[in-house]
This record gives sequence, structure tokens and C-alpha cells, in this order.
Amino acid sequence: MRFGHFDDEAREYVITTPHTPYPWINYLGSEEFFSLISHQAGGYSFYRDARLRRLTRYRYNNIPTDAGGRYLYVNDGGDVWTPSWLPVKADLDHFETRHGLGYTRITGERGGLRVSTLFFVPLGENAEVQKVTVTNTSGAAKSVKLFSFAEFCLWNAQDDQTNYQRNLSIGEVEVELDSPHGAAIYHKTEYRERRDHFAVYGVNAPVVGFDTDRDSFVGPYNSLGEAAVPFAGRATGSVASGWYPIASHALELELAPGESRDLVLVLGYVENPDEEKWADDAKQVINKSRAHELLGRFATSEQVDDAFEALRAYWTELLSTYAVHSGDEKLDRTINIWNQYQCMVTFNMSRSASYFETGIGRGMGFRDSNQDLLGFVHLVPERARERIIDIASTQFPDGSAYHQYQPLTKRGNNDIGSGFNDDPLWLIAGVAGYLRETGDFTILDEPVPFDNEPGTEVPLFEHLTRSFQFTLDNRGPHGLPLIGRADWNDCLNLNCFSTTPGESFQTTENKAGGVAESVFIAAQFVLYGTEYAEIAERRGLSDVAAQAREAVEEMREAILEHGWDGRWFLRAYDYFGNPIGTDAHPEGKIWIEPQGFAVMAGVGVGSGPDDVDSPAVKALDSVHEMLATDHGMVLQYPAYTSYQVHMGEVSTYPPGYKENGGIFCHNNPWVIIAETVVGRGGRAFDLFKRITPAYREDISEVHRLEPYVYAQMIAGKEAPRHGEAKNSWLTGTAAWTFVAASQYLLGVRPGWDGLIVDPQIGPEVPGYTVRRVARGATYEITVRNSGEPGARARLVVDGEPIEGNEVPYAPAGATVRIEATL
Ligand code: GLC
Ligand code: GLC
Repeated sequence: MRFGHFDDEAREYVITTPHTPYPWINYLGSEEFFSLISHQAGGYSFYRDARLRRLTRYRYNNIPTDAGGRYLYVNDGGDVWTPSWLPVKADLDHFETRHGLGYTRITGERGGLRVSTLFFVPLGENAEVQKVTVTNTSGAAKSVKLFSFAEFCLWNAQDDQTNYQRNLSIGEVEVELDSPHGAAIYHKTEYRERRDHFAVYGVNAPVVGFDTDRDSFVGPYNSLGEAAVPFAGRATGSVASGWYPIASHALELELAPGESRDLVLVLGYVENPDEEKWADDAKQVINKSRAHELLGRFATSEQVDDAFEALRAYWTELLSTYAVHSGDEKLDRTINIWNQYQCMVTFNMSRSASYFETGIGRGMGFRDSNQDLLGFVHLVPERARERIIDIASTQFPDGSAYHQYQPLTKRGNNDIGSGFNDDPLWLIAGVAGYLRETGDFTILDEPVPFDNEPGTEVPLFEHLTRSFQFTLDNRGPHGLPLIGRADWNDCLNLNCFSTTPGESFQTTENKAGGVAESVFIAAQFVLYGTEYAEIAERRGLSDVAAQAREAVEEMREAILEHGWDGRWFLRAYDYFGNPIGTDAHPEGKIWIEPQGFAVMAGVGVGSGPDDVDSPAVKALDSVHEMLATDHGMVLQYPAYTSYQVHMGEVSTYPPGYKENGGIFCHNNPWVIIAETVVGRGGRAFDLFKRITPAYREDISEVHRLEPYVYAQMIAGKEAPRHGEAKNSWLTGTAAWTFVAASQYLLGVRPGWDGLIVDPQIGPEVPGYTVRRVARGATYEITVRNSGEPGARARLVVDGEPIEGNEVPYAPAGATVRIEATL
């Protein structure tokens, strides 16, 4: 069952009913100002940091769900409704939400009145623009009243939800009815004292009234759906003083039959330099000149249309870097539109703000952000460069890392734990991804501090060395890396032994162990240690490179010797030195992470798909047999049915959810890539389709979340709700599936010296073209594909056959034609 459809031409998903199984959301903004917006206009806005600079309120976990947003109430001759359906929930004659790339358009029609609003954050602006088009579709003249609504958050979203003894007394606003471009309401709580920023909500038309006090607008015992002012049809002119500041403009339109009118509303964030904070000597009135300039840039529909066109063009340009035409429309829309778009959003948000992440729980993750880079770096390499420097600046001198930093301050913190021993190696992954894409080796010479401490700067390359060395310095009895608090799997807590209810596994004190080892980190070391050696070599450090390669070989042997269970790779050794992920145990026999990652790293890879005795093929066959379901591959099997104190959080989830046997989508692409490594493209493509939302659209009633973006988890085969997704949008799945599909299935990936063309997608896609822009040159690639397992492409480049699969990078501006046949 579907709740809408893709419009690939427009690059939109069109939701045709408000009654989706869950709010289906979108993100506005791609630089510093962001908004979340659901298909029914729920959500909130913030500047840079969803925790520290929240502009508007949203109520997570509420009844009903999706409470709080930017709403426009209509009072049409006494008939009150909201075109976004929520919050009034009056039946609509027509409803449609179009989520596009960085914008959303919501249209509702009732009783011969159509209201359509385009929401977006213009490039280079710290504001959400809302262009409202009101059309009288009836045969008679109409006199319509409109009431806008936004509720302000008192900046720090966490404090806002907890510190009522203070916050209910500090709210302040200003109202400007004769603003140069219409009318505006200003939220200036704490501006009198230490803040240099305020929010503005303006409209480009004269108002007939306003409200800024929530109780006056809503009525103390009403829900937003029963808000007093729109039902009364009259604003009260309330001025907030403490309590709950809001902004509502009251407008009246006279519309002849068929007549249409535009209004522009702008919700903006403005900063004033300290010496320009005030308009008066008494320091009471905000200096609004910057706000007026902002509103002036969107005072007319034409200005808004131009800004919207610029946003559309920006995305057209970004997406031209990688585009496929395969004849499979689901594959094409995933690669060409939605997956790349999701990569941008995860790059911007990390795991901070979604409908599952409250924006106060987490900032930018060290591990997460490095991986997010892999799916983003081809889009805007300069921003990836800046991100790498930000992340590396939080590293400690011994190579270990804070698990996260706050985007506003860019300083690391321990709020969500520390001591995850996989973290350091992801920095090498991120930097290698950047170098392969850009060839910009100057980044390695950038001076980068440790823990943001001025004076400690060393070249970025030295940070990679510390990452590499950290793993070597922290090995256990089998020569495998110590796991620390956990590795990629946050919930595999082998040194934790928590028995206190509610205690966080991520932050609680760990036992000093020195025994618990991770086969996953070992595989990660083989993959990224090899990248490190390559980087060292290219810096002219042959000795360093040679030593690194030796260490990598040692690790490879340690995995094959101590990390192999007979039919698959072990997962870990616990605190007591016992194996985890072995056939000898009744539960948690086989775990996905080391299977995918080890094979991806080339560990145990034999001569190809027919080498059935190679560890790689055995491990992947075991994955297929024990972990694969129609909805993707579960993380481990069988799931734990009882609490395992020596394993920690993984066993706290009921079987089939999250890390306890859920389909934790992030690691599925590792297996997909691994399948291409052993030459089984057909199976890789099949596994890709099982988790990819566009292929799951027809079962939206089962999947329940957005059919246009990946979710972190789909409930596993042991869960009662098998197939149901959770935690959409912010997940490493976005970057990794883009890498898996674009670089391994379709097979076009940046090598060190040239573009590699190595398709492995199996017989279902007999031919396709890819357009890839890399280092300024354009590659037009045509693939003729037999889909034979194990077959590798022969390449003809501008008419000349070449040896191997790497096409040397052409100068910027060049166009290169590549024909690949396999
Ligand atoms: C979450 C975290 C990620 C972690 C994964 C597995 O997605 O953001 O860092 O690797 O869970 O536990
Ligand atoms: C829990 C989740 C995991 C997440 C971690 C950090 O452990 O299961 O997915 O990464 O919390 O927030």
C-alpha cells in the first residue's frame, strides 16, 4: 500500500493523504539555518545547533503525535481549517504535500478555497521563507481571514523543556506593525542581557491584528486544533510578558472568484554585533536594521521565486556529479536523487535532529561524521575538508577521541560517552575518502590541534598516524584490537557489567579490562591501515608505509588465526577471553559486522565466487543463510532472549530490535560491498533492494516510514513487527549505501590515480550509463553487462582499450568516454 508517489521529473515525493502511518518529514536548509518539516507542517527551526540555538518549539513523544509546527489557520466565513490538515483536522477536499530537495510544498483545499504554501530556506540566508498562495476556487467572492502561528523556543532546547521556574518569567517580544515591508514580530528573550541574537517572524503585508502570547491565542485549556483566536476570527493584540511567547499575524483577504493572492512570511535568525545591539540609548529596543534587510530580500513574490529557482539550480548542479540511467527507475531515483539528498542531510545533522533524535541528545559524532563524509564528499568537497579539520581538532594526543562535539562550539564533550576504540580509525576513512575524491594532499599539512588546545597544532597527517598507532598500542591477548567501551556497535559493551537500572551503557564507568578484543576493529584496521600506508607512501614516507603494511599483514593473520570460527568470522573476545559470535553458543552465533567488513578489507578473499573454501565466500554464505530476510539482513542471530551482563546494552533490546537482531541497515552495505568483492554482483544487488526504500514503497503500511530515505533500523525476523522501520533520515546507512551502490554495484569509484570502473551488479541490469564528474573532468561511462558472476569489465577509453580498471584522471574540463564490457 502507498500513501503517495514519486515525481522523478520534479525530484519530489508527493504525499496524497495526511494519514500516513507516521509523520513523513523533510529538511529545509543546507548551510547554517535548518528546519524540520513534516507533511503536515509540524517541526521546528534552529540555527547551526539544534540544542543550543533552537528557534521554535516542538513536542516530542506527544499525544497526538507531531505537535508543534508553523501553522496557518483559515477562517473562511466562520469555517475554520488548516491547509496542512493538522492541527485543526477539518476534512479537506484536496490535500497534497510535495517534499523536494530542501523545500516542501503543502496544499490544502476546502470549501472553494485553496491554500498552498512553499517552505524553503534560501541559499545563504538564515531564514525559513513561506510563500503562501491563496486561491478562491469557488464561484463567489470570498472574504477570508488568515492567522499564522509559530511558537518560540527560548533558545536552549534542553533548558526550555526543564527550567520552568526561570523560563516562564523571561519571555520577551517586540511587535512592529509598521515594519518597512509589512509587519513583524520579534522574539528577544535574553537579548537584554547576554545574547546577541533574536528571531523575527514577518509578513509582507499589512496585518489587521496580531498575538504574541500563547494563552491568549490558543486559550489555556485548548489544543492547537481548537485555538481560540482563529475560531473567534479576531486577534487579541496580546503582548507576551513571560510565559509562552508566540508569533501570530492576523490577515484579511478579499478574493473575487478565481482570484489568487500571494503572501510571504519569513521566520529568520538575526545576530547583531555587540556595539550595534540597540536602537535606543536606554537599551530596550532591538536594532532591527539587519532584520529589515532580511525581510526586504523577500518582500515580493518575484524575490522569493528567484531564490527558489537558485535553490533548484543548486541541487541540479550538485546532483550532476553522479547520475545513472539504468532503466530501473527505482535504482535511478535512489542514486540520482534521494540517496544523495539524504547524504547531504546526514552530513549536516550527523545524528542530532530528526523525529527520532530530539536535537538535545547528540551533537556531531566522531565516528558518524567521518562515515557521513564518504557519501557527501563528491557533492561539496570544500565543506568535507572543513568538517575533517573540525573533527580532527577534537582528537586527543594519544589518538583516541571524544565521541562527539557540539556544532556551535566545535568542542568535543563526553556527554554520550568516550573510549570507543573504533573511533580513531574512522578519521583515516574520512581523510582517505576526501583525498581519493579531490587529490588535494595539502589537507595533510593543515595544522590541527589536539582537543582544540591552541599551541598543540600538528599537521593533519600526524593525526592519522596517531589514529593508526592507537590501534596498535591497544591490542589484547590475541593481537586483536581492544574494544574499549564498544566499537562501531555502541551496544557491545564488554567491559561494562552494568546492574543499575537506567544507567547509561554509553557513559558509565567501565572495568579496566585489557582482554576484550574486537574482530571488527581488526578488520577496520586492515582496510584503513592500508589506506594509511598508501597516504604515507604518497607523502614520500616509504619506511612508514612499509611498517604500516607489515602491521596490517600481522593483523590480517591474527584475524584468520584467532578471529575465524569455521564458517564465519568471530565477533569479539569478551572480558574473560571467551569468543563471541561462535556456533558453539545458542544465541548470538553469527554477527554481521565482521563478515562484511573483513571481506570488504580483503581478508580471506580467495580467487572469486567459485572459491567456496575461501573464508570470504564461506562467511558471506553463512550471512545469507542465517542473517538475510526479505527486509534486509539482521545484525546477529539468534537474538538474545535474556540480559547478558557481560555483553551490555546489546542484550537489553527485545529480540529483533536495534542492535539485538534488528536489521540495522548501516551494516548491510558492508555485506553488499563484500559480495561485489567476491564477484557476486547479482546477490549484492538483491540485498541492496531489500533495504532500499524506493523498492519498499509498495509495502509502506509495513515499513511505515518515509519511502524516500533510509531508516537506521527495520525490525528483524524475531520481532513481532518484522519489516517495520524506525529512526529514519539520520543514519550511516545513507552514506554507506550510496558508496555501495554508486561505487561497487555500478562500480564507478575514485581511485588514487584514476577513476575506477568495475561494475558488479549482476544480470538484472544489462546495461547502463553513468555520468561522473571527478576532479573537474566529466566521465561518460557506458556499461554492457553480462552479469556473469566473477566477470570483470574490459575498458575502452576514448576508443582505446586499456589494461585494468583504473582510468587515469583527465585534466579539469576534459570529457572522457569509457565503454565497459563484461
Ligand atoms: C547508531 C550510532 C552509531 C553506531 C550505531 C551502532 O547508529 O549513531 O554511531 O555505530 O548506532 O550501534
Ligand atoms: C543506544 C542505541 C545505539 C546508539 C547509542 C548512542 O546504544 O542502541 O544505536 O548508537 O544508543 O546513542
